Amino acid sequence: MKIVYTDNNATTKVADEVIEEMLPYLGEFYGNPSSMHTFGDQVGKKIKEARQKVADLINADPEEIVFTSCGTESDNSAIFSAIHAFPDKKHIITSNVEHPAVKNLFMHLGKKQGYKITFVPVDKKGILDTDQLYKRMTEDTALVSLMWANNETGVLFPIEEIAQKTREKGILFHTDAVQAAGKVVIDVKKTDVDMLSLSGHKIHAPKGIGVLYIKNGLKFSPFLIGGHQEKGRRGGTENTVSIIGMGKACELAKKNLPVVNTAVRKLRDYLQNQLLEKIPSCSVNGDLNLRLPNTLSIGFDAVEGESILLMLDRYGICASSGSACTSGSLDPSHVLMAMGVPFKSAHGTIRFSLSHYNTPEEMDHIILALISVIEKLRAMSPFWKNGKLI
Ligand SMILES: Cc1ncc(COP(=O)(O)O)c(C=O)c1O
Repeated sequence: MKIVYTDNNATTKVADEVIEEMLPYLGEFYGNPSSMHTFGDQVGKKIKEARQKVADLINADPEEIVFTSCGTESDNSAIFSAIHAFPDKKHIITSNVEHPAVKNLFMHLGKKQGYKITFVPVDKKGILDTDQLYKRMTEDTALVSLMWANNETGVLFPIEEIAQKTREKGILFHTDAVQAAGKVVIDVKKTDVDMLSLSGHKIHAPKGIGVLYIKNGLKFSPFLIGGHQEKGRRGGTENTVSIIGMGKACELAKKNLPVVNTAVRKLRDYLQNQLLEKIPSCSVNGDLNLRLPNTLSIGFDAVEGESILLMLDRYGICASSGSACTSGSLDPSHVLMAMGVPFKSAHGTIRFSLSHYNTPEEMDHIILALISVIEKLRAMSPFWKNGKLI
């Protein structure tokens, strides 16, 4: 059965060009980039090239790029470094729709290290309450950490404006741009953030490679203390093969950005409009305009997201649900709950996240499959009678 992969916010296919770029460094060129000999130095030169390509994607300088093991490590390193930079400040701010890589660390810092935490709310469209954010920034605030784009709904936060406000108040600002990269323009010269996280496996590089952008001149406390690698900002022998893959993936992401914002957006909009038209009682989660071009979070009343996913799986369709299995109960995700999405549609939410590998035929396949799946599930649902939610 052909797989229709629409779960790109979870992870992406490693691009063929990326594999091709990496293979020689997995086999023939296995030297350590720190070695003094030419054999190792060949790898060092290739890493330098990769660092430049990553920098080019976000308009950074290459020395501002630090390679890590994943987006989670980048987020954690940025947050720990910020609180070490201001040991006397005991307040940190984030939103209530962050990825666990930020949200759970904030909760940990609140519970175990006595930090006062502000979780800034979002409205029912997932838009950040910036008035609240600016009101809560005080002399005691060490850090604001906010995601550029939400992984579940694709909703974008006004990072440029927030960066300006934090700069005016002398508060460090970190943004988790893991989902934004390759989908919206990121320019760190224009958007004056202090630190920014990326993850390879969301942009067609392998899993297990991340990037932390650290603005030139910013004092940084390393999370991994070890060798002199990454100019002492992240000890440990470099993941040479994945770094080389990440460089290529960033080069491709830059090239494909216009495609994602035209062809992929068109596919997403087609899928969205056809589903809204052909299936009764369904609604899109998140602001329709301030949103990533590839993401569609859509809730179907009176059915369970997990049942939809299992049935879509039989058609070869890969998507994800808007629920999180916590201690045996299937609750809607913290993002949908924070947005106040009603239970009846939050439970039946599916996220489709597309890439430039998707085709119009695949969208038609999904539409036909979903019409049939929702009809079957509603026929069995105690909350659905005579074509209506009860
Ligand atoms: C917004 C966001 N931040 C961070 C991460 C974590 O990235 P990684 O899986 O590379 O640790 C993800 C992954 O889903 C994400 O979507």
